[in-house]
Amino acid sequence: MGDNKSSNVVWQDVALTRQDRERKNGHRGLIIWFTGLSGSGKSTLAQAVEARLHREDFHTYTLDGDNMRHGLCADLGFSNEDRIENIRRIGEVARLFVDGGNIVLAAFISPFASDRQKVRNLVDPGSFFEVHCNCSLEICESRDIKGLYRKARAGQIRDFTGISSPYEVPRNPELILDTGASTVETCVEQVFEAVRERVRLGEAMALRDANR
Ligand code: ADX
Repeated sequence: MGDNKSSNVVWQDVALTRQDRERKNGHRGLIIWFTGLSGSGKSTLAQAVEARLHREDFHTYTLDGDNMRHGLCADLGFSNEDRIENIRRIGEVARLFVDGGNIVLAAFISPFASDRQKVRNLVDPGSFFEVHCNCSLEICESRDIKGLYRKARAGQIRDFTGISSPYEVPRNPELILDTGASTVETCVEQVFEAVRERVRLGEAMALRDANR
C-alpha cells in the first residue's frame, strides 16, 4: 500500500465489491483523465462529456483542478512537489470513484508523465483512459480565458505551466484531441465513442449474472 505513516492499521475487507456496484450501475467504472496546458479545454470537455454520459444514464463524477484546489488540495501550490502531491491525492480519489463503479472524469494539467503513470497504476489495466487535450501554447495563450498567461508573462505568477514550469506531452495516451482546432462537439463525440466500449459490462460478467 506504499509508504504508510500509520503503523497499527489493518486493511478492512469489504463485503460489496466494485463488480457488485458495476453490475447494479449497468456499466464498468473508468477514469477518463484529461491532461493538457491551462486553457487547452480540459474542464470544458470533461463537463461536456459528463453531460453526454449522464444523459445516457451512466454514473459519472467530474474532478476538476481549479475546484479541487478550493477544498481537498487548498493547501497546495504549483511547485513541482505540490503538483505531485495534488495528482497523488486526485488519483486516490479517482480510484475510490472507480471502485464505486463510476465513470470519473478528471481534468488536471498533470504536467508530469510519472504522476499520470502512477494514477494509471492505481487501477486495473483498462480502467484508465488518458486523453491529451492537444492545444499549442500559442493558442492557449492567445485565448487566455482566465488572464493567467498575461500575468505569468508579466512575472506576476511563478511556476506557470508552459511559461516557467514544464509540461510533459503524453507519449502514448489512449486518445489525442486536437482541441486547438476541433469544436467541443466533435471532441465530445470522439471521447464518447471511444469510452462507450470500455465501460460495457463484459460477456463473462453477464454470464456469471445469468448463472446466479
Ligand atoms: S496541476 O499542475 O497540479 O495538475 P491543476 O490542474 O490542479 O494543476 O490546476 C491548474 C489550474 O490552476 C489552471 O487551470 C489555472 O487556472 C490555475 N493556476 C494557477 N496558478 C497556476 C500555475 N502556476 N500553473 C498552472 N496553473 C495555474
